[in-house]
Formats: sequence, C-alpha cells, structure tokens
Amino acid sequence: MIAIARVVINSVAAYLAFWVVRAIYRLFFHPLSRYPGSKVAAVSKPWYEWYWNFHHKGMLVFEIERLHERLGPVVRIGPNDLHINDPEVFREMTKVGCHFTKDPEFYSFITFPGTSIGEVDPNLHKIRRQVLTPAFSPQRVQYLAPMVKTKVDRLLERFNSFASQSQPVNMFKASKAFTMDIISDIVLGKELGCIDNPEFKNQFIEYLHASFASGWIGTAFPNFLKFSLAFPIFPIPIMEFRNTEFNRSVVIDMLLDPASAKDHSTLNAAQLAEEVIMLLAAGNDTASDAIIVGIYQTLRNLSICQKLNQELLAAFPDITEEITYEKAKRLPYLTAIVKEAIRYSNPLPGKAPRVVPPGGFNLYGHTLPAKTILITSAYLLNRHPSVFPDGKNFKPERWLTESSDHFDKYMASFYRGTRQCLGKE
Ligand code: HEM
Repeated sequence: MIAIARVVINSVAAYLAFWVVRAIYRLFFHPLSRYPGSKVAAVSKPWYEWYWNFHHKGMLVFEIERLHERLGPVVRIGPNDLHINDPEVFREMTKVGCHFTKDPEFYSFITFPGTSIGEVDPNLHKIRRQVLTPAFSPQRVQYLAPMVKTKVDRLLERFNSFASQSQPVNMFKASKAFTMDIISDIVLGKELGCIDNPEFKNQFIEYLHASFASGWIGTAFPNFLKFSLAFPIFPIPIMEFRNTEFNRSVVIDMLLDPASAKDHSTLNAAQLAEEVIMLLAAGNDTASDAIIVGIYQTLRNLSICQKLNQELLAAFPDITEEITYEKAKRLPYLTAIVKEAIRYSNPLPGKAPRVVPPGGFNLYGHTLPAKTILITSAYLLNRHPSVFPDGKNFKPERWLTESSDHFDKYMASFYRGTRQCLGKE
C-alpha cells in the first residue's frame, strides 16, 4: 500500500515539475514569448479557452478584443498561438500563393476531418471543392430562386395566420426553419418541413446548438471530445443526424460520382453523412443569423425601414406583382442592407486559426516560425476602424458610397482566399 502511495506521489510530483518547467519555457524562452498577451493562455491554452468559452459561454472573442485594445494588433492567446487584428495582414494571409493551411487540431473538433470545411490538406480540399462548386455556383443559385420563392410564400402565409390570431411570431425560430428547409432541399433532396411545423421546430438546429456546449469543452480539451465520439457516455447530439435517410440530390450525386472531379473517389456512407451534416450546418445556422440580425436592425431603425419601404414600393407598386430574385437583387438599398447584415452579424465571428507555412511568415518585420498558429476573427476585422468607420453601428448607407468596393475587399464574414465560403453566392 505504501509502495503504491509512493508511486502515485512521485508521479504527481514529476508531472507538476514537468508542468512548471514547461510553463517557464513557454513564458520566457518560447519563440512567441516576445509577444504580449495573456500569461495564462501562454502557459495553458485549454484552461484559458475553457474559462472564456465554456464557463463564460463563448466570450473569448470579446476578451481577445479587450487584449487588442490594450496591447495592439498582435496578442498571444496560446503557447503557440497569436491572434492578429489587422485587415492588411488578413489579406496577406489569404492572398493567392500564400500557403497558410487550416489548424488541424481546431478543425478536427469543430468539423468532421475530410469534409469540405474540415479538410486541412490543400490538395484533398481542392478536389472536394471542385466536386461541390457547381452545386453552389451563381447559375445554380439563379436556378434555385423559384424554389426559395415558394418557401418565402409559405413563410409569409404562416406569418399572416399568426397575425390573424394576434399571435407573435418567434422570428429566431422562423428564420432557422426557413433556411433549414432551403438548405435541406438543396443538400438532402428533401425539405425537413420546418416552415410548416406549428412551432417552426428544427431538430437539426436543436442538435447543433446542444452540441455547441460540448464543442466549447472540445476546443479546450480535444481528448474529451474524442472520448465522447468513441463512447456514447457523453453523446454528441448532432451525431444523431448521421442516421437520416437521404434522397438523391445534385449535391449527393456529385459526391458519389467519381467523375465529378479529377482524383475524386466516391464517398462511403459515413463520409457522405459527415459531409451532408457539415453542409446543413454551414448553410443553415449562418444564413439565418444574418437574416435575424438584418430584420432586427432594420426594424429598430425607423429611417432605414422607411428608405427600404420607399425603394420596395417604387420597384413593386402593384401588390399583385411577383417579387422576383432577378429584380430584387438589383435594388441598391436592399442590397446594402443585406451586405451590412452579413458584415454586422458575422455568423462565424470567432477564431479562424491558420498554420504558418514552411519558411515562416514575416509579421511586422519579424519572422514567425513555421507551424505557429496565426488566428483572425471576423467579428473584429469587420469592425476594424481602419476599414469600417463607425463599424460598431449598423449602417447600410456605407455600401452606397465610393468605398463600397474597398469594403468588399476586406469583409471577413465569408473568410477569403481558397478557404472562403462555398455558399457566398
Ligand atoms: C451568411 C451566410 C454564411 C456565412 C457568413 C458563412 C461563413 C463562412 C465562413 C467564415 C467560412 C470559413 C470557415 C473557416 O475557415 O473556419 C465558410 C466556409 C464554408 N461555407 Fe459558409 N457561410 C454562409 C453560408 C453558407 C451556405 C449557405 C453554405 C452552403 C452549404 C455554406 C457552405 C460553406 C462551405 C462548404 C465552407 C467550406 C469552404 C472551404 O473550406 O472550401 N456557407 N463559410
């Protein structure tokens, strides 16, 4: 018994000694020790992330904002992790020929590895991207417009029926139901009936949001997530969707057809389910967040609401005239509201961590070693005062000025470069 106690005490002491030596190295001798930032994060990223994202429910991005305000454009938020808040550096990192790759650790627990979003190998990603691009091209969006229109009409019918009974509408749920039925039609070949559900119930989003809680633990403690995936003791709700039965759809046909792109091999059932789940998540929660924020900001600002009304009445004076996508997308003020909603809501606001390529990266005259993790956050870039003056306010008018092209170049909501959003159109 004493021998066992001695072994345990010695092991704990050895681990503590290792931990202290490693902390000293990370604080004073690590190549990134010259950068300001959180000392806690420099010593232990898991506990730092757990504290801000799990304990304080996703507040890390605001803590990073505070660090930047105090310490400048580069802050250290992990032993090997720098957060950068500079639109020029973001453009540099995402320009053609710059070989930053996605951080495999981060993306292995917020996505499924090997999927369009989760694949970190640039060559494999290129193949998957080629397979999926035709399904989300501008021509395809044009082709899908009538399908979207029928769902808009059904949603408006539901709103009318709420109005006739003097009932309020839960716009959060209604928007999530609307985008779910669109993206499921595109990806699964069948809609999930969320618009017609009396309470706009959206099982997928419920599972997804329930998974975020374990996701925050996962980003802090990746091994916990791997354990949860391996053993159903702490089930990950979204995994339930793996069992959904799919119809055929353009997306599924392309994924299963080896001729879709050079070197593409057909997916097995598990790979297909994982890609489908990622596409449903990417296309549903993001677009609905932008819709919710756009509607809220427009309604709470009388002058924005009046200008939009005027534009719509001028474009569609006859109430019986059909509002087509073709005509609506040419309305300047409506377009400005959509762009501002996407900037302001930035549905994926937080960390997009990238690995510095072999050869390093020159940051303000100092070379960051290869494999350093360099991170940007859309929430901060989309409000950066050097690009978006008064960026903390919702101002569609900014997109009607001469600077509009400049804003387009720096907007980070969809990321940029080879890993920019596939659903941007
Ligand atoms: C307002 C709506 C949307 C926003 C703001 C948005 C934002 C983003 C962002 C920031 C990324 C990069 C993620 C990262 O690198 O960590 C991304 C990637 C992606 N998004 Fe979207 N997204 C939106 C809508 C959609 C839609 C409708 C789809 C359709 C399924 C979609 C599919 C994808 C895919 C497949 C990727 C991975 C692209 C790649 O790495 O090649 N997104 N999106």
